[in-house]
Amino acid sequence: MQVEWYRGYYVSRFILETFLFEGGIKMALWDGRFKKEIDEKTNNFNASISFDKKLYKEDITGSIAHVKMLGKQGIIEEDESNKLVSSLNKLLNDIESGNLEISNDVEDIHSFVEYKLTEELGDIGKKVHTARSRNDQVALDMRLYARKEIDNIIDLLKELINVFISKSKSNVETIMPGYTHLQKAQPITFAHYLMAYVEMFLRDIDRLKDTKERLNVNPLGCCALAGTTHPIDRFYTSELLGFNSPCRNSLDGVSDRDYLMELLNDLSIIMIHLSRLSEELILWSSWEFKFITLDDAFSTGSSIMPQKKNPDIAELVRGKTGRVIGHNMSFLTTMKGLPLAYNKDLQEDKETLFDSIDTVKLCIETVIPMINTMKINKEITEKAVREGFINATDCADYLVKKGVPFRSAYKIVGELVAYSIDNNKTLDTLSIDEYKNYSSLFEKDIYDVIDPKTCVRQRKSYGGPAFDNVIKMISEIEKIVNKI
Ligand code: ARG
Repeated sequence: MQVEWYRGYYVSRFILETFLFEGGIKMALWDGRFKKEIDEKTNNFNASISFDKKLYKEDITGSIAHVKMLGKQGIIEEDESNKLVSSLNKLLNDIESGNLEISNDVEDIHSFVEYKLTEELGDIGKKVHTARSRNDQVALDMRLYARKEIDNIIDLLKELINVFISKSKSNVETIMPGYTHLQKAQPITFAHYLMAYVEMFLRDIDRLKDTKERLNVNPLGCCALAGTTHPIDRFYTSELLGFNSPCRNSLDGVSDRDYLMELLNDLSIIMIHLSRLSEELILWSSWEFKFITLDDAFSTGSSIMPQKKNPDIAELVRGKTGRVIGHNMSFLTTMKGLPLAYNKDLQEDKETLFDSIDTVKLCIETVIPMINTMKINKEITEKAVREGFINATDCADYLVKKGVPFRSAYKIVGELVAYSIDNNKTLDTLSIDEYKNYSSLFEKDIYDVIDPKTCVRQRKSYGGPAFDNVIKMISEIEKIVNKI
């Protein structure tokens, strides 16, 4: 199999070199104007094939739409158009089935596709680039690629949200401390906490959808920069490729990479959400907190300390965030100061986008099972709520409900807290007489009001952690997710 592939490759390469391309496959698309071949190292520096081969499907799909349009408009013969379409389909099949490897001998994926067509169809193959430039071709490929990957990432985010929802459902009554400044603040529940991340992921999906809507215009037919004298039909290719419309201005069409800047920013925000989550998982799984236990499958040991269980996977997600933000910054910097229209600097959009997309997908895929398998240590989170005067606001609100102005109630409870600390007590263990020393309005029902479960149950304001609130919130979100 392997041997046959090589034989096939060399035979076709021989034919190509000898009969079709005079100088061989390494000959550049721009042959004619130049007297000398490009310097080999410069050639490698200039080439993008090693990474833009990833765009083969988009390049072929775009080319199919293009040659169909050329045939329909009579720019090439219908029979030529049909031959080009079937050759392009065959090329796609051959690549997908592994029968054809994309060679690194050409400059880029666009040259590769054209070489292959010419190898198979001769002069007809050479017609594929009529009324087209690599400038609009690459702009098209990138939009098709970004559009497809946005859908893939949305699917993954949906999967992630569903895991968060199912964890939330089993933790509606799991009380835990909520923090501000990483100091215990007020009691919440683990479900309320997890659902906060769901809100972030839903916004991430919204942002991706917005970006997709804006990017969904067709640059094909902008050609090099100034359209063409051929009677092309850009609305037809837009329809074939599922775009809302052709982009309006040919100069803009080939130089616009706004949608990539937007997308890189969307991806950075996703990573920042995953990173904040990771940071908390790392903290919650530490010996000091022990709120959660990460599954062994998502932790690693130490080479020297036998007791260690390290949250490496969460740390890596946090770490890879820097990489995606870096790509975002690097591409913004690339774009700054570029004159219209196409400049080769734009080739730098590929590796930044590809790596960002791959990283985001990998991280979401890793976080899904990590969340799914993590154990939440309910007794520990509930015990943590009983320390640190987390019910002090509720104690003050008790007085407010009896007519004391909030600021005065705040002061009374502040003094009670100071007294408790000095006497090694908590608000739950103070006697009613001790309470009354600070305000005669305190009655025995204060103990129920400051019970953490009551504190949560009473936080019924819209968006708050009360059990019923969160149950409602979960079912609302389930409906939203089902519609995505
Ligand atoms: N590899 C190039 C890119 O990624 C393709 C477009 C080349 N166009 C040109 N005029 N050299 O941007």
